[in-house]
Amino acid sequence: METKKADKKFVARSKFEDFEIARAEGIYIYDNRDNKYIDFLMGWCVGNLGWGNPEIEKAMREFDGPDYVLPGFMYKPWSELAELLAEITPGNLSKSFRTTGGTESVETAMQLAMAYTGRRKFLSLEGSYHGNSIATLSLGGSEGKDKLANPLQNCHKIELPLDEKALARVETQLKQKDVAAFIMEAVSCNLGVYIPKPEFMRGLQALCRQYGTLLVIDEVATGFGRTGKMFACMHFGLEPDILCMGKALSGGYAGIGATITTEEIADAVKEDVSIYSTYGWHPRSVHAALVNLNYIVRNEEELMQHVKEMSARIVSSMLNMSFRTETQIHAKGLAISVDVNDSDYAEEIKKQCRKNGLVITVQETKLVFFPALTIKKEEVEEAMAILRNSI
Ligand SMILES: Cc1ncc(COP(=O)(O)O)c(C=O)c1O
Repeated sequence: METKKADKKFVARSKFEDFEIARAEGIYIYDNRDNKYIDFLMGWCVGNLGWGNPEIEKAMREFDGPDYVLPGFMYKPWSELAELLAEITPGNLSKSFRTTGGTESVETAMQLAMAYTGRRKFLSLEGSYHGNSIATLSLGGSEGKDKLANPLQNCHKIELPLDEKALARVETQLKQKDVAAFIMEAVSCNLGVYIPKPEFMRGLQALCRQYGTLLVIDEVATGFGRTGKMFACMHFGLEPDILCMGKALSGGYAGIGATITTEEIADAVKEDVSIYSTYGWHPRSVHAALVNLNYIVRNEEELMQHVKEMSARIVSSMLNMSFRTETQIHAKGLAISVDVNDSDYAEEIKKQCRKNGLVITVQETKLVFFPALTIKKEEVEEAMAILRNSI
């Protein structure tokens, strides 16, 4: 059966794009007719090092560990990966829970926060996205989900913009001393690359500490260099109590996530929170994460400098483009969006870009770009030429 027909019949989802991917290499993806596209999404912040990094591919082929290890046993690469995560995450974060991906990482964070604080309430940003389970759906945006809006009643939302007034609203809620955790992305990839002001983030950290609410930072999309630092919360000097990871942890080679917290929190909830995840940190996934992460850590300084330079190049190029509408650009490293203030126009540009060989996405009125952190100058120029021709 033709893929499109079979997909429609057997794959359960509300919508899909008529775009069949056959292979990927570097910053490019190829469809089933071998048409080449620049990938400005990288699987939504998954392939941070580009697709098919030769060093990682070779290491994946050479994997000769066990097919599977029971979560209750010990396995050296688990402790190696956990130690590496403790080294690269901010503050006193040191103990990792082993998960299969982003949703499970955030879900684990919620369990930890409830068990540690003895509270049941959560605060998050209206319109955000933190995953697909009942609990994480409850943190996410409430609109457009008639049957599944806020399945957990004790999840409350703070509306953007994150200004002084928003901070005052946060304080009103936290003052009740019944909020287990405030959960957000430090740079919200899922809110069209929303970048909060440093004062808001500093204020939020202080309020959380004052009222005994845990600060949970979701770095599932932003983690591992996307915003020009290893983690987006580092731009603000935050010390989260819990940090959630997924996506670029393995760079796309296998599914894996992690929830890291302090020794104090992990030890305090030891008896109450027992995360048994059958495929959490599968040997093959841990191998992928170790190889991918060691590559990022070894090249961190150079890579982050490159992200800054490519970000500046893309922004300056876009500032010189003649969009039909007024635009605002939001950029932190290679998490970039352009608000064209018109959702139809944004969709039209996305369509044109696709026709011309550039894959981007749209969130409401914003064009959103997540290019590979390793993208070369010439490749940026190639992408910008396509965008210029598509607007
Ligand atoms: C910020 C954030 N948190 C959590 C998730 C859920 O991750 P996963 O799809 O791996 O379950 C996503 C996925 O897009 C995300 O962007």
